[in-house]
Amino acid sequence: MKIAIHNSEVSFSPFWIEYCKEKGISYKIVDCYQSDIIRQLEDCDALMWHHHHMFSRDILFAKQLLYALEMSGKVVFPDFRSGWHFDDKVGQKYLLESINAPLVPSYVFYSKEDALKWAAQTVFPKVFKLRGGSSGTNVRLVADYGEAKQLINQAFGRGFTNFNARGMLKDRIAKFRKGKETLVGVLKGIGLLLVKTRYSHIAGRERGYAYFQDFIPDNTHDIRITYVADRIFALRRRVRKGDFRASGGGQQEYDLAKIPAEAIKIGFDVAEKLKLQTAAFDFIIADSQPIIVEVSYGFGYDAQQFDFGYWDRELNWYEGKFNPYGWMVDLVVDKIKEGK
Ligand SMILES: Nc1ncnc2c1ncn2[C@@H]1O[C@H](COP(=O)(O)OP(=O)(O)O)[C@@H](O)[C@H]1O
Ligand SMILES: [Mg+2]
Repeated sequence: MKIAIHNSEVSFSPFWIEYCKEKGISYKIVDCYQSDIIRQLEDCDALMWHHHHMFSRDILFAKQLLYALEMSGKVVFPDFRSGWHFDDKVGQKYLLESINAPLVPSYVFYSKEDALKWAAQTVFPKVFKLRGGSSGTNVRLVADYGEAKQLINQAFGRGFTNFNARGMLKDRIAKFRKGKETLVGVLKGIGLLLVKTRYSHIAGRERGYAYFQDFIPDNTHDIRITYVADRIFALRRRVRKGDFRASGGGQQEYDLAKIPAEAIKIGFDVAEKLKLQTAAFDFIIADSQPIIVEVSYGFGYDAQQFDFGYWDRELNWYEGKFNPYGWMVDLVVDKIKEGK
C-alpha cells in the first residue's frame, strides 16, 4: 500500500509526510502539475493533495484530477463529496438547503431583472458575497437598495475580480499595527498586488450572478467548527473592530466553554449526512441559534490551533494536543484497506 502526496509548502502536506514517516506508512511525493501525473500514480493506491483556491494553477484542474482518479477507483483526499463545493458558496447554498441544514437565508440570481426585483422589495442591510474567496475579502455589507443596485449592475456588467489584493493589504496593515502581522507579511501583501495580475488573468472575473445573504446582526464572533474524520475541534474568531466580519481578522479565541453544543451537533450531523472527509464550518448566531455561513474542506492552521482538545461523535471530550493531519492520513489508509 502506498499513498501519493503532492507536496507544497503552504499546505497540509508537510504534516502528512511527517506523520507517514512517524508511522512507517509508505508514501511517494508526486507532482500534480506534470502531464504524466497519472503515470506517476501507477504504483499508488491514493492521492492526497491539499489544493488551494488562491493558486491559479490549482483552480484550473485540481478537482478534475482528483475526481478522475476517484472514478478510476483510487482513494483521494479531498474526495468528490468533500471537495466539489470548495470555494463555491453558491454550490454550498444548494447543498445545505437540499439537506435542510441551518444555513443563513441566502439568495442567488442569474439575471439582473430578477436581482433588482428582489432588491426592490427586500429589507436591508444584506450581505453580498462572491462565490469564491476567503478571509472576508469578497464579503461586504449592503446598506440599502442603492448599494445593492450598484453591486447588481456590476455583477451583470463588468463583474468583480476574485482577488481583492487591496483589501488583503489593508487587512495586513491593520494586523501589523496590532502586532499580529510581521513586516515581511506586509511586504508580501504588497507583493500580492503583483500576483493579482497572474491570478486574475487566469481566474477571470466573477459575473453573471448575484449572491446575497440576510445580514445577521450583533455577532461579536463567528464560530469555526472543524470536522475531520469523525472528530470536531472548534474555536471562535472575534469580529474585527468597526466591521461585521470575523474571518481574516486573526483574533482567535480558544475558550471552548463558549462554543455552543448545538453547533458541534450540527457539524457532526451535516458532515455525516454528506459523508464528508473534512469540513470547516463557519457559524454565526441568529436568534440564539447557530446557523451555517459557509463550509470548506480546507482550513487555516495556526500554530496553537490543535492544542486545545476535540470532541468525538458521542461528544466525549479529549483534552490536549492532537494531530488532525494524521487523522486525514488514517482515513485514507482505512479507505484503501476497505477496498482491498
Ligand atoms: N450573513 C451574514 N451575517 C452576518 N455576518 C456574516 C454573514 N456572513 C458572513 N459574516 C461574517 O463575515 C465573515 C466572512 O464571511 P464568510 O462567508 O465566512 O466568507 P470568507 O469565505 O471570506 O471567510 C464571517 O466570518 C462572519 O463573521
Ligand atoms: Mg469564512
